[in-house]
Amino acid sequence: MLRALFITLSESRSIRAVAEKSRIGQRMSSRFVAGMTVADAVATTRAVNELGMTVTLDNLGENTTNVEEAKQSAAVYHEMLDEIARVDLKANISLKLTHMGIDIDEQLACDIVNGLVEHATRIDNFVRVDMEGSDYTDRTLALVHALHARPKNKNRVGAVIQSYLYRSEKDVEKLCADGIRIRLCKGAYKEPASIAFQDKKDVDANYVRLTKIMLESGIYHGIATHDEKMINATIEFARAENISPGSFEFQMLHGIRRDLQKKLVDEGWRQRVYVPFGPEWYPYFMRRLAERPANVLFILRNLFR
Ligand code: FDA
Repeated sequence: MLRALFITLSESRSIRAVAEKSRIGQRMSSRFVAGMTVADAVATTRAVNELGMTVTLDNLGENTTNVEEAKQSAAVYHEMLDEIARVDLKANISLKLTHMGIDIDEQLACDIVNGLVEHATRIDNFVRVDMEGSDYTDRTLALVHALHARPKNKNRVGAVIQSYLYRSEKDVEKLCADGIRIRLCKGAYKEPASIAFQDKKDVDANYVRLTKIMLESGIYHGIATHDEKMINATIEFARAENISPGSFEFQMLHGIRRDLQKKLVDEGWRQRVYVPFGPEWYPYFMRRLAERPANVLFILRNLFR
């Protein structure tokens, strides 16, 4: 019930408008968000790199409502890519299509993302297109396939698959057939039983099934989870099938299970941290609370310390 409540709250535009501007809101979000500016993101990335982990940077924002906003969001990503190259960060970028204007004009979003993928190619980098709610699944995968099919974008753009969706096995097979890199996650949105597993055990079983298909594909994929059972199943499978630690990476969110992130690096596995930044933190933050409502108490305790 609490999960559903936080997901509903994450979609409230009026609460979002007030929360994002408030000092207390910004302080609370700092548990999961690296800061408000590119400089904050660079500082956090440096610190994470020093721990032996790579980063993917997310300029927070979604559901952009006008063309200027979409272009402005892309401009921040271009600045970020320049910074990554200039100060030699071990980082790539993750973006959301609703932030790049897909609700305004699909061609606009495609052109904006293509511009970013071309920029990433010039600096030997990579763009991950995050997956949003199921209204966007088809359009997001179609756009990633189309961009990846352009010869100079090959291996420079990747997709995200959510193990809670029934359709995901087919989507994984199609992406692998085109050689596209996948980040596998469980899924962070509220989806109906007609299209998505509702029980954690089913989502988890599908996660393990998809992980095995992905690891056997020989493509460099990301296994994104904080769930030790999923991580252990991945390690067990990789060892049994002689899949080398350098041929895939684990991914976790900034501020979550830092102990586990370090442990994996110490054991010789690759670990990438998803580092979100920027003033539009509210929906992202609420989805993190939805995943673990106990975070509310944790954050409030720290606030009054
Ligand atoms: P699960 O929710 O079962 O949690 C397992 C354990 O992890 C918990 O018991 C707890 O210890 C810890 N944990 C999980 N979430 C926590 C939290 N918020 N705070 C504290 N502890 C927590 N989703 C999506 O729909 N589209 C996307 O593009 C992405 N992208 C993405 C990138 C990366 C790098 C990660 C790690 C995750 C995503 N997600 C995502 C989110 C994902 O779908 C999922 O909601 C969360 O990762 C939580 O699921 P877990 O796999 O961690 O397992």
